[in-house]
Amino acid sequence: MAQVIEVNQQTIRRLGFGAMRLPTSGFRGPARDPEVGRAVLRRAVELGVDHIDTAAFYQSGDGTVRANALIREALHPYPPSLVIATKVGPVFGPGGPGQLPAAGLRAAVEDNLQTLGIDRLDLVYLRIGRMEVPHGESVAERFEALAALREAGLIRHLGLSNVDLAQLEEAIAIAPVVAVQNNFHVAKRDDAALLDACTTRGIAFAPFFPLGGGGTDINNPHLAKVAARHGASPPQIALAWLLALSPVTLAIPGTGSLAHLEANMAAGSIALTDEDLAELAVAGPSK
Ligand SMILES: NC(=O)c1ccc[n+]([C@@H]2O[C@H](COP(=O)([O-])OP(=O)(O)OC[C@H]3O[C@@H](n4cnc5c(N)ncnc54)[C@H](OP(=O)(O)O)[C@@H]3O)[C@@H](O)[C@H]2O)c1
Repeated sequence: MAQVIEVNQQTIRRLGFGAMRLPTSGFRGPARDPEVGRAVLRRAVELGVDHIDTAAFYQSGDGTVRANALIREALHPYPPSLVIATKVGPVFGPGGPGQLPAAGLRAAVEDNLQTLGIDRLDLVYLRIGRMEVPHGESVAERFEALAALREAGLIRHLGLSNVDLAQLEEAIAIAPVVAVQNNFHVAKRDDAALLDACTTRGIAFAPFFPLGGGGTDINNPHLAKVAARHGASPPQIALAWLLALSPVTLAIPGTGSLAHLEANMAAGSIALTDEDLAELAVAGPSK
């Protein structure tokens, strides 16, 4: 398993870190201890993480603990090798979640620049749709707006999140796409064809919910069996499977726990055998 991936001449390790669980264990839930969050981030970098996935809207429900603030407080000035990926598109107003129009994306990018304390974002995903299923609408206007911000020097690379193949192709015709981030894990593989398209094109695929989002999806007998063979846990096997699946997959497991962070990083050295992969080929029906 290759441990690194080239994204437009920048090499990053394939096992990274997702920051959504630092402020709160779910989404916009009760605040977690920010000191623990900062400790997790520092330890992640010590353990070799050079890719952190975040968003300005990752925060506790009461707004007191925010992922970007934790990242800045823990790690700024950032190591030169650190890639911080963020996403824009969703908006969470009093009327519930919605989507920013193209004209609103500049402010969202500037919010990330300011809260992360940098003058150019490494990677910005355009996050499409309200829920976890791609909706199929045109991404052109919003992606063109982000491409213009890239041209203006505010963004280095562009990605797409929660999209289908047609949306990816629509965006590629506008500007280079270096990464895709959809809901995908060992027990949910609806986007296998999209992953194939990314593999063929050399586009990184950094799924969200690589551990099934912390639910019970990855607690099945197939993972348990492979985990027992390796003296590992099912979440570790879920990460090893993701990394074994394609040379373009990046894992960004999310955790606010130092113990889980250590366990997740150790998954990078698990080498799955053909027998393991055959077992995991049936490890979960698509939801
Ligand atoms: N593009 C999008 O729309 C989108 C959506 C969701 C997430 N994301 C990104 O993707 C990243 C990963 O997704 P995610 O964090 O939502 O889900 P995930 O990585 O699939 O799972 C995280 C959950 O698993 C638990 N966990 C982590 N490591 C564990 C371990 N070794 N053993 C047992 N439990 C473990 C965490 O709890 P503890 O915190 O208690 O460890 C948390 O509840 C996010 O952090 C975020 O950066 C993007």
